[in-house]
This record gives sequence, C-alpha cells and structure tokens, in this order.
Amino acid sequence: MSNLAYETSPEETRVDTDTHSMSELRPIPRISIQAFCETESVASPIERASEDRRMAKAHLKLHMGGAATAIEFYQTAPTPNLIILESRQEPRELLESLGQLAEVCDPNTKVIIIGHYNDVWLYRELIRSGVSEYVVAPISMADIVSVIAQIFVDPEAEPIGKAMAFIGAKGGVGSSTIAHNVAWEMSSLFQSEVVVADLDLAFGTANINFDQDPAQGIAEAVFAPERIDEVYLDRLLAQCAEHLSLLAAPSTLDRIYDFDADAFAQIIDTAQRSAPLLVLDVPHLWSGWSRNVLARADDVIVTATPELANLRNTKNIIDTLKKLRPNDPPPKLVINQVGIPKRPEISVADFTEPLEIEPAAVIPFEPQLFGNAANNGRMLGEMDANHAIVGSVRELAHVLTGRIEPKSKKKSGLGGLLGKLKRKK
Ligand SMILES: Nc1ncnc2c1ncn2[C@@H]1O[C@H](COP(=O)(O)OP(=O)(O)O)[C@@H](O)[C@H]1O
Ligand SMILES: [Mg+2]
Repeated sequence: MSNLAYETSPEETRVDTDTHSMSELRPIPRISIQAFCETESVASPIERASEDRRMAKAHLKLHMGGAATAIEFYQTAPTPNLIILESRQEPRELLESLGQLAEVCDPNTKVIIIGHYNDVWLYRELIRSGVSEYVVAPISMADIVSVIAQIFVDPEAEPIGKAMAFIGAKGGVGSSTIAHNVAWEMSSLFQSEVVVADLDLAFGTANINFDQDPAQGIAEAVFAPERIDEVYLDRLLAQCAEHLSLLAAPSTLDRIYDFDADAFAQIIDTAQRSAPLLVLDVPHLWSGWSRNVLARADDVIVTATPELANLRNTKNIIDTLKKLRPNDPPPKLVINQVGIPKRPEISVADFTEPLEIEPAAVIPFEPQLFGNAANNGRMLGEMDANHAIVGSVRELAHVLTGRIEPKSKKKSGLGGLLGKLKRKK
C-alpha cells in the first residue's frame, strides 16, 4: 500500500500506487460494499474503483456523508460485508464515532477508514479496535481496489464465506425447502450474495423450487475437479434472484453418483472464496462425502418432523456431529411439519428433551402455502411475505448469519426466540 499511516514522512507515503500493480490482483468476490464519503476527492476514486473489472462481482454503493450519516443509515438498513468510511474527524472524535457505528453494525462487517490524519497512534488504535485498514487521503483508484483485495482475496486469508449445511433427519421432512427459503431470505434481507449448492445430484429440487433449468451445474464441477476455480464456478452458477445464485443438481439418472469422501471439498472451498454465504443442501444419506460436508461446514441445520424415527435419527446425527466437531456448537434444529391433521405427534418439549437443544424454529404443517410455492417455483416469501412461517424463516436467517435485527423493524414470527437464543450463548 502506498499511503497507509506508517511511520514515514508524508512525501514518502504520497507515491501513487500505479495501476499496473493491480494487474496481478484476483477478482474481488461477490461482496456488498457501502462507502460513505465526505469529500469529492475520495468519492471519485471509489466511484472509479467500482467500475474496475476486478470489482465486477462486488456490489458497491456510494453515499455522500461521513460517520454520522453511516450511523443514521444503519439504524434501519442491513450492514454490508464491507463499509468504507471517509472521515475528516480528529483521531479521538473518529474513535468515538466508530464506537457508535459498531453498535448498529453486525460484528462480521469489515471496515476500512479513509482518514485525513497521518497519525500512527490512531492507526494502531483503529486496528486494535477491529478496523481492517486505515488509509490516509488522498487515495487513488488503485489504492481502493488493492486494499479491498488485501482483505478479501488474500490466498492466505480465511475464506470469507460461511458454509451452512442443511440435512433432513429423514427424507421428505422439508430440509431442502427450508434451506432454499433461508437462502432466499438471506439474500433479500441482507442484500448479501448467497450461493445455494444442491448436493442431491440425482433428485435435487433446488432447480424446481427456484424455477431454473440450467444446462450446467454442480455435476460439471464434481466430475472435473481439476478445472475448479472461481472463474469456472462462476460459469456454472444460475442466477435465481438479485443476490442469489444456484449450483444446480442435474436431477437426472443417466449416470450414477458415487463420490470419494473429499469430492465436494474443493467446490465448497472455492464457493466460500467467492461469496459470503453458502447454503449446502445435503441429501438424507450417510456416506463418506456427506459426513465430511457436515463435519466441515460452519453450521449444520437438521430438519426433523415430530415422530419417533425422526427423533432417533436426529439424536444420532447430533451426537455424531458433536463428536466430529467437538469445538463447535451443536447443530441447529428445525422441527417442521408440526400439526399434520390426525397424525399422532411427539410434542416439541418431548422431542427436544433427549436432544438437549432448543429448536431454532418450529414450523407448522401448511400444505397450501408450501404446495403453492413449490408448484409455482416461488419462495414462501414471494407467495406471502407476511405469513408467520416466513417470519420464522427470517429469524432463522438472522440466527445463522449472526445478524442483528434492525431496531426499527418489528420482530416477526416466533417473537422472542431470537433473543432467547442470544441469551443462551
Ligand atoms: N411445513 C410444511 N408444510 C407443508 N408442506 C411442507 C412443509 N415443509 C415442507 N413441505 C413439503 O414437503 C415436501 C418435501 O420437502 P423437501 O424440502 O423436498 O424435503 P427433504 O429435502 O427433507 O427431502 C415438499 O413438497 C415441500 O413442499
Ligand atoms: Mg432434499
């Protein structure tokens, strides 16, 4: 970086980063970025950076105004993956504003500050308080792109994407439907890029649920592992909504699908490097590869219906995953299709007691809503955005992303559940 606030003289720090140093940079992944600028001289290179080809997949929105504008804005709006904030405030004032900004931002949002004070104390304080980078104005377009790349495409860095694996305790319990709807809600609520990967190659339904019929998808990737990189993966994705894309299953039986235990590892790793959220729709089976996918995901969501075989299987899945992932919280539980008329059911309390976990969501049996959505290739939220079940799906989206609900928005669906889960941590 040319002009970070290291202990150098202003002359030394002024050397403009030339654009050819950018030619080696890999593309910025599908992240959402919001920039708040106080001066035209900072806004204009950011604007130009947003048009750079390396930024083609990222969504960048520019606002005029500094810290106060950002704080006000995030009272109600979801926070992006990255905030770039220009501030002319003095060091102490700036630190105070950032404290206020942190209160309305999600903890995993990254922050780059563009300041007007070349002050090493400030630089250290900012980095210590979790700011990813402090850059002193003036800045060039190349500075912006490289500082973003440094945070999001460094091959040494952790993949940015969070992988969430959904599996049913039995077939047909609604695991895929919930996975797709949670993915869709995440993409529309948080305007954050979500990739859905359908790992049920023979019978996957993501293509039906999202009304897509792509010629290529996950099969091309899993059968040609040597070709997988971000560019190839990109070609295999089918766009389903503004911020949602699908790695679709072929859902045909012209070949058989036996895989090695690590067959999906590289696809998952690559997808995690290209988007912040990855939803893995895992079929109901127990094989080397499915066990590995579940063992390595950041979160596992088990969907079950309230009857005995489901309870037994859920208990086995949870116990086994606890052993495979001793340093992770247990899987999350969704109890689905509750209240099927005339079906004898195990109560939620009796179902969860042997599992020793609280359900993250309890979803009633609602054949009309689910049936209409499935038959029309639409999501529940598109069919009836105000339905209580859609509220539960949204809560699940918040819990899984660790997002805070905007204060002004009313809580929906299962009311205090999110709060209860938070308190449990
Ligand atoms: N809460 C619910 N009420 C009514 N039908 C549901 C509910 N959840 C899922 N379904 C329906 O159940 C069927 C099986 O769902 P699916 O997601 O394919 O299950 P899985 O992936 O667990 O095999 C689908 O037709 C879906 O629309
Ligand atoms: Mg399924």
